[in-house]
Amino acid sequence: MRTYLVTGGAGFIGSNFIHYMLNKYGKEIRIINVDKLTYAGNLENLRDVEDLDNYSFVRADICDSAAIEEIFRKNDIDVVVHFAAESHVDRSIRNPEVFVKTNVLGTLVMLNNAKASWELSDGTFKEGKRFLHVSTDEVYGSLEEDGGYFYETTPYAPHSPYSASKASSDMLVKSYMDTYKFPANITNCSNNYGPYQFPEKLIPLIINNALNGKKLPVYGDGKNVRDWLYVMDHAKAIDMVINKGRLFETYNVGGHNEKQNIEIINIILDTLQEMLPDGDPRKAHINKDLITYVEDRKGHDRRYAIAPDKIKSEIGWEPETMFKEGIKLTIKWYFEHEDWMKNVTSGDYVNYYAEMYKNK
Ligand code: NAD
Ligand code: DAU
Repeated sequence: MRTYLVTGGAGFIGSNFIHYMLNKYGKEIRIINVDKLTYAGNLENLRDVEDLDNYSFVRADICDSAAIEEIFRKNDIDVVVHFAAESHVDRSIRNPEVFVKTNVLGTLVMLNNAKASWELSDGTFKEGKRFLHVSTDEVYGSLEEDGGYFYETTPYAPHSPYSASKASSDMLVKSYMDTYKFPANITNCSNNYGPYQFPEKLIPLIINNALNGKKLPVYGDGKNVRDWLYVMDHAKAIDMVINKGRLFETYNVGGHNEKQNIEIINIILDTLQEMLPDGDPRKAHINKDLITYVEDRKGHDRRYAIAPDKIKSEIGWEPETMFKEGIKLTIKWYFEHEDWMKNVTSGDYVNYYAEMYKNK
C-alpha cells in the first residue's frame, strides 16, 4: 500500500487531487494531508473523505521542521505531493514576506525531511520514493500577445513576488535533484478552475459577484490571456507524472485553452443566464453592466500559454475537459454549494476584499 503525503491538501487543487486519488485507487493507497489551514485551506472541502481509515489530516505549518519530521518518523512515506503554498498574485504584491516563508523556506523544509527519511547510508535513495513539486507556468514570465509558448526549456523570468517565490522553490528542487540525485519531479501548470476554488481568483469571484449582483472587476483592458485547465485534468496529470514520469524531469501541464479575461467573464455571464431557471430572482441582475474596468494589477503578465508536448509524448497525458463543459460543471458546483461560498466569504476574506478593492 503506497502512502502519499499531500501538503496543502485542504486548498483548491490539493482537495481535488485527494478526491481524484481516493476515487481512483480506493483502499490501495493511504493519504496523509498536512495543511496549516490558512484562509485558503478549508476542511469542508474534504468532509466526504474525513472518516475513511486510509485518509488522515495533520494540521501543521510546512515551515515547522519538527512537525514535518514527526510525520516522516511515524509513517513510511512513499510519495510527497507538494501543493502547500501561498498562491494568490494580488496578495503577494501587498505582502511578499509570507510568500517567501511558505513557498521557499517551506519547500526547503519538505525537501530536507524527505531527504533525511529516504536517504541510504551510501547517499542513494530508497527504491520507489518520489517528491512531486507542484509549480506554476508563471515562473516563465510573460509571453507576447501574438505568439510563443512556454516549454520546459524556457528560461525562468518571474515578475510577481508570488512567481519569484515559486521560481525559487523550483530552483531548490532542481538543486536537490542535481546535487543529491534526490528523486523528484516538477510540474509547471497553467491556470486551474473548478470546484472548491477560493473566490479571490478570477472565475469563482466572477461567479459569486454575478450571482449577488455585485460589480465584476476587470483589471486593465481585460485582454490579458490565461490558459485555463479543469482542475481534475491537473490532478490526473500529477498522478500520471508520479507513475510514468522520468525522475528528475520537469513537465509542463496546460489546457490548450487560451482566453482573454474579458472573454472568460462574458462566457460566465452567458452560461449563468442559460443555466439559471426562469423566474430565479438572481437571473434579473446578471447582466453585462456589472462589468467594471478597474486599475490594472502591478506588473501584470500579459499572456501565459503552455506547450504540453512533452507530457503528451512521454506520458500520454492530454487535457480532456473542454472549457464549455468544465465551466458548466464549475458553475453547477457553485450553485449547489452556496453555503460553502457564504462560509468562505465571511470573516478574514471580507476584510481582505474590502481593503483590496477599496480604490478600484
Ligand atoms: P490554495 O491557495 O487554494 O491552497 C493552498 C493550500 O496550502 C491551503 O490549503 C493552505 O492552507 C495551505 N498552506 C498555505 N501555507 C501553508 C503552510 N505554511 N503550511 C501548510 N499548509 C499551507 O492554492 P491552489 O490554487 O490549490 O494551489 C496549490 C499549488 O498549486 C500551489 O503550489 C500553486 O502554486 C500551484 N498552482 C496553482 C495553480 C492555480 O491555478 N491555482 C496553477 C498552477 C500551480
Ligand atoms: O498560471 C497559474 C497561476 O494562475 C497560479 O500559479 C496561481 O496560483 C493562480 O492564482 C493563477 O494566477 P493568476 O494571477 O493568473 O490568477 P487570477 O485568478 O488571480 O487572475 C486571472 C486573471 O484575471 C489575471 O490576468 C488577473 C485577472 N483578474 C483577476 C481578478 C481576481 C481580473 O481581471 N479581475 C479580478 O478580480
